Amino acid sequence: MHSFSAISDLYQQKRDSLVFPLTPSNLYGSINYFLDLPGKRIRPALCLMANELFTPIRSDSYRIAHAIDLFHNFTLIHDDIMDRSPLRRGRATLHTKYDEGTAILAGDTLFIYCYLLLNKVDLIHRTHIVELFSETAKQVCEGQQMDIDLEKKEMDAVHYADYLEMITRKTSVLLGCAAQCGAIMGGANEQQQISLYEFGKNIGIAFQIQDDYLDTFGLTARTGKQVGGDILENKKTALLVKAFEVADFKQKIMLKEAFLQTGQDKVQAVINSYKALEVDQWATKAIESYTAIAFGNLEEIDVPVFKKEKLMKLANSLLVRQS
Ligand code: IPE
Ligand code: IPE
Ligand code: MG
Ligand code: MG
Ligand code: MG
Repeated sequence: MHSFSAISDLYQQKRDSLVFPLTPSNLYGSINYFLDLPGKRIRPALCLMANELFTPIRSDSYRIAHAIDLFHNFTLIHDDIMDRSPLRRGRATLHTKYDEGTAILAGDTLFIYCYLLLNKVDLIHRTHIVELFSETAKQVCEGQQMDIDLEKKEMDAVHYADYLEMITRKTSVLLGCAAQCGAIMGGANEQQQISLYEFGKNIGIAFQIQDDYLDTFGLTARTGKQVGGDILENKKTALLVKAFEVADFKQKIMLKEAFLQTGQDKVQAVINSYKALEVDQWATKAIESYTAIAFGNLEEIDVPVFKKEKLMKLANSLLVRQS
């Protein structure tokens, strides 16, 4: 069983073997610019670790992990346009470094590369994998649309259930898909596949709540992203939704007034309200509780416990992540 860092290294070697064409240089140059800083590689690691729960890692699992990772990067490039984000992984976002048209095409091209990779998967598994991946990709687009739609909704009209539905689609299903793909390649039975999908999905929910937390309470030096970006864009984050759920009449007015401000004043005023309502502490508990549900999913899988340790460690590391 490989550790997260060992599996990341193995994955990186396969990733390096894909060399993009040289021209048009703005298209492939921008893709290389973006992929040059690979991020945390949680999704490919999850896929490979899920495979390794059952059998040694298959070469097709690397292709699938790669496709999932490219898909993730594609969604980030387009997400940064949608969210008007200036920073990603500590550098200018692709659309600010190049332009929006290039960013749209870079994302589209990466999405096509996903299918080029998946098309190489052995025929025995290809249809299943492509169906699961495609259904997941569709749900991510649906989640991203929900995110945009919720942005425009009144602050107190968004319920926690709406939020959960949105983050499940935009973020969690991809982690579920990564884990299930690995399980499929490892020859897992249907029940084991479902448990791994649920494991990925539940750590995905915890992951997005943590992402929301870090957007407000994290440090740019760690996250590589603009702090307060969600507040500036009126994103219906876990913090915002919960704040409106627990606030009394007066506190709701204060929150709404905070959101009417602009720039850093707005960010600071909203943070003050969040702290007064203790939604930062609530978020930490919510993250822990979804991780506990994920551990339950892992327990259901009938393989020796020592084989699950690396996946448990990965889930635990997400609990304390700062980036
Ligand atoms: C960011 O994902 C987008 C979300 C779904 C929250 P990551 O935090 O995994 O991004 P990188 O790949 O490590 O930069
Ligand atoms: C992004 O959610 C989800 C997808 C990219 C599908 P966020 O918009 O919260 O992700 P970050 O914070 O920009 O990484
Ligand atoms: Mg974003
Ligand atoms: Mg977004
Ligand atoms: Mg975010």
